[in-house]
Amino acid sequence: MRIILIGYGVVGQNLTRIFINRRAELFNNYGFRPRVIAVVDRGGAAVNPKGLDLERLLLSKREKGTVAADSKFGKPGASAIEMIESLEAEAVVEASPTNIKDGEPALSYIKAAFRTGKHVVTSNKGPLALAMPVLTELAEHNRVYFRFSGSVGAGTPFLEFAKRCLFGDRIIFIRGILNGTTNFILTEMVERGVSFEQALKKAQDLGYAEADPSMDIDGFDAACKLVILANWVMGKKVTLKDVSIQGIRNITRNDIESAEKEGFTVKLIGSIGDKLEVKPTKISKEEPLAVGGTFNAVTFVSEFAGEQTLIGRGAGGVETASAILRDLLDIKQKLAARVWPE
Ligand SMILES: NC(=O)c1ccc[n+]([C@@H]2O[C@H](COP(=O)([O-])OP(=O)(O)OC[C@H]3O[C@@H](n4cnc5c(N)ncnc54)[C@H](OP(=O)(O)O)[C@@H]3O)[C@@H](O)[C@H]2O)c1
Repeated sequence: MRIILIGYGVVGQNLTRIFINRRAELFNNYGFRPRVIAVVDRGGAAVNPKGLDLERLLLSKREKGTVAADSKFGKPGASAIEMIESLEAEAVVEASPTNIKDGEPALSYIKAAFRTGKHVVTSNKGPLALAMPVLTELAEHNRVYFRFSGSVGAGTPFLEFAKRCLFGDRIIFIRGILNGTTNFILTEMVERGVSFEQALKKAQDLGYAEADPSMDIDGFDAACKLVILANWVMGKKVTLKDVSIQGIRNITRNDIESAEKEGFTVKLIGSIGDKLEVKPTKISKEEPLAVGGTFNAVTFVSEFAGEQTLIGRGAGGVETASAILRDLLDIKQKLAARVWPE
């Protein structure tokens, strides 16, 4: 499979490491031979239609800061759109930064890939949160696969669990902790008795929260993931503007202590029922959803199988890269079985 990789940061580099380390296994077990023919970062691109040497690529990125600096295959200043439109490839892996204002530049990359008949795997929530119904229709129209497992729960297969394991059932309600940073902050407030500000500072020192933590603590990150779940798992045609969002900025020690006294704990819960909502919620400490630290957890309530909760790490470069690999394998298997895009 010829792949154009857009974005060569934590996730993109981890994906190529997996390709290097699992080369034989991927071929022997799945008949999968990924051939990365172009990689794009902010400096430009590295291109080789026969397949780039991935070890050399990692080295060039580490030593020179950009893949475009490669003396033989580098193309300084080349754009992702140029690569997508001019190269022949089966798939585009999109791992550029998330932007929830207009979804760009990823939104244009994904549309260009569809337009040129390429399957797309992305870990980027932005375009999905803002335009998922349109994007899934566009993919169908162009008869290509569109996969995004890493965008919710990183390596934890929340999307696949709901879609595949509960196949034939009807999921009627979803609720979950979809953001590890806020879960860490709330857990610190409970376990260490610290204030919101102190817990946030610790999350930032440990690299769990950004310098501008708004995306996490104001609930937008969780809301984006809720939109993806609602569309993919429950067939709702919704975007970010359909979610009622309240973050954890105003949670005080008092809120935490009074919940504790009643046997509850406060979590930032996203739920999908008649409406989509993200808000701090008191839940019983006995609930499977009451996980601590940076964990994510989602409870699926289905008509026949009842309630299941899946728990796992919600972030991490290698975890997210593993979700991208699963998506690529899924596409490869569907193509091999001549199952056309649904
Ligand atoms: N890391 C995680 O744990 C995780 C988990 C789930 C989902 N995700 C999502 O996965 C995506 C990638 O995350 P990441 O952690 O790998 O981010 P990252 O380390 O910041 O890497 C982003 C990459 O995109 C490149 N880039 C920036 N602007 C670009 C543009 N206009 N066109 C093409 N490439 C551009 C950057 O280039 P330079 O290298 O030149 O700066 C960098 O290589 C994001 O959307 C993120 O939200 C990440």
